[in-house]
Amino acid sequence: MIAVQINSFGGYEKLTINNNATKPTLAANQVLVEVYAASLNPVDKGIAAGYLKDMVHLPATLGGDFSGVVVQVGEGVSDFKIGGRVYGQAIVLNGGSGSLAQFVAANAGNTALQPNHISFTEAASLPLAGVSALQALEEHIKLKAGQKILIHGAAGGIGSLAVQIAKSLGGYVAATASSKDKDYVKGLGADLVIDFRSEKFEEMLKDYDAVLDLVSGETTNKSLKVLKQGGIIVSLLAPADPELAKKLNVTAIGQLTNTNTQYLIRLAELVSTGKVKTQIDKVFPLNQTLEALKHLGEGHPRGKVVIKIKN
Ligand SMILES: NC(=O)c1ccc[n+]([C@@H]2O[C@H](COP(=O)([O-])OP(=O)(O)OC[C@H]3O[C@@H](n4cnc5c(N)ncnc54)[C@H](OP(=O)(O)O)[C@@H]3O)[C@@H](O)[C@H]2O)c1
Repeated sequence: MIAVQINSFGGYEKLTINNNATKPTLAANQVLVEVYAASLNPVDKGIAAGYLKDMVHLPATLGGDFSGVVVQVGEGVSDFKIGGRVYGQAIVLNGGSGSLAQFVAANAGNTALQPNHISFTEAASLPLAGVSALQALEEHIKLKAGQKILIHGAAGGIGSLAVQIAKSLGGYVAATASSKDKDYVKGLGADLVIDFRSEKFEEMLKDYDAVLDLVSGETTNKSLKVLKQGGIIVSLLAPADPELAKKLNVTAIGQLTNTNTQYLIRLAELVSTGKVKTQIDKVFPLNQTLEALKHLGEGHPRGKVVIKIKN
């Protein structure tokens, strides 16, 4: 089969497209999926560069998010049948075989049936970004109607879904994005969009219930000032300074997203009912994955970059 593989670490430029890669074998509690599409996440670039390299055995297939059709069911799997249209996460770090390939072995626990009435390309854009947004908003923040939330990085893969989910939960959403993305983020439903380069969000907002931090750096600690006492900030990179958070009487946590079946089902429900719409910036064929990874890092995409693998 064809697969995008890491043979040595050092960046995505060193990836190879292997036309004779070995088809993955199934372990118990896994499904083998013929991949129709896969989407890229910043972590994929990190893995190619050698991030967590002790956990990655070479050669390894890159990629996590996938959509496709089940072709084989492993021992112990009862929730999926051959022919089922599924989506999920199969990054090598969670025991999957990597999704940038014609076939992927995925843990049944990181897989679910796709949302109804959407294409494979759209379904592949959702898993890690959508579940990251859902887990932060529903499990950690527990956003309620009428509450005010600030979402940093709102035009990106996670942010473009988080704005929609926060609005569907009834929140008032302020968002940061670059000036070129202001109208785009407004169109997703944000009530207020702040240009992160020319405006100072920390001087414009106060008494917020929550912050979803998809950006990190100095943005994280500055965000503590917009929270009211008892508020919460969830960061997907480094969490805020715990001492400062304690002093201001706010909760600061870091999230490691768990793309499990339960969240994928909840995400599918939001998409199937039209409350959340997939956001795709650009679609590339598998043999242009290196160009797609360059676009992810340098092209300032709105929403997700997807690799189409089978028509
Ligand atoms: N902890 C976990 O389990 C987990 C899971 C998934 C993702 N993540 C991390 O979460 C982060 C976001 O992921 P993503 O997929 O949404 O990335 P993404 O698609 O690259 O989006 C990031 C967005 O942030 C914007 N941005 C950059 N600097 C900013 C600033 N100072 N203020 C406001 N916005 C800014 C970017 O705008 P421009 O394009 O205009 O620069 C871009 O739209 C990544 O770092 C990723 O590695 C962590």
